[in-house]
Amino acid sequence: MRFLKQTTRRVLKYLLSIALMLYSWTIGLFTGKGQYIHSLVCEYFGISFPKPKLPLISPAQVLSSAPLRLAELEVQPGNMPVSELAALCGIVRRENPRAIFEIGTLNGRTTLNMALNSPPGCRIFTLDLPREQLGETRYPISDRFRKLVEKERSGELFLNKDAAEFPETKKITQLFGDSGNFDFSPYYNAIDLVFIDGSHDYEYVLNDSEIALKLLREGRGVILWHDYRGGMEVITALETFRKRRPGLSLHHVRDTSFAYLKR
Ligand SMILES: C[S@@+](CC[C@H](N)C(=O)[O-])C[C@H]1O[C@@H](n2cnc3c(N)ncnc32)[C@H](O)[C@@H]1O
Repeated sequence: MRFLKQTTRRVLKYLLSIALMLYSWTIGLFTGKGQYIHSLVCEYFGISFPKPKLPLISPAQVLSSAPLRLAELEVQPGNMPVSELAALCGIVRRENPRAIFEIGTLNGRTTLNMALNSPPGCRIFTLDLPREQLGETRYPISDRFRKLVEKERSGELFLNKDAAEFPETKKITQLFGDSGNFDFSPYYNAIDLVFIDGSHDYEYVLNDSEIALKLLREGRGVILWHDYRGGMEVITALETFRKRRPGLSLHHVRDTSFAYLKR
């Protein structure tokens, strides 16, 4: 009887997964989640191009094991999975930064969580491209990423928080502009952790990476790139960046899509 129940469950699960795959490979491809599933499966079977090339580093080497405080766990299009959000907050905990710069705010989910896991007094700057400026960017932004720019409001997940319940949101300063044209000079030599998650097009990743080096305080700190995974131009851009700057030791944090540089 037990065997029959188990077999029925397995067959049902199998049929359901086929149906979900069919959905993901057809209508689902028009949704962020569907594209993510597609890229995960391709990556799993090693059929994504370009493929990650950086040497792997263990999460244990870059994350703190201290307890984390996480909020807004719902994943909306453009947000990272909860496992990566936790990894990023673990890096923030370990680095204990006095200042963080994020390129690419979206709904502010990561900004908020960095605020919750950074030390008191840490300042967090987050830059986003306003949709009105989409036509005036320094480099072209591909269709794939335009929909993340075309939103009503940037940072709504920290803006909508009650300041008494989330006093950490006071750490956040919102900035607006195109990372290709923005004047970063007031933040040069003043940042301990840079999180690059704006446009994922080649020119932008390269541009933002060069800027991140200038932002680091006395050239020291951590730079993180999101979406370092199969099929993304983040990979090709970081290959060029590495060739230009052979002294830099970049790594891919295992089981995440973060590229990591600690100087
Ligand atoms: C992938 S989302 C960021 C996700 C967010 N960091 C998170 O972890 O939830 C990309 C964001 O970058 C912004 N963006 C795209 N191109 C940009 C540019 N050239 N300059 C500044 N921000 C840009 C988009 O408006 C969008 O909000």
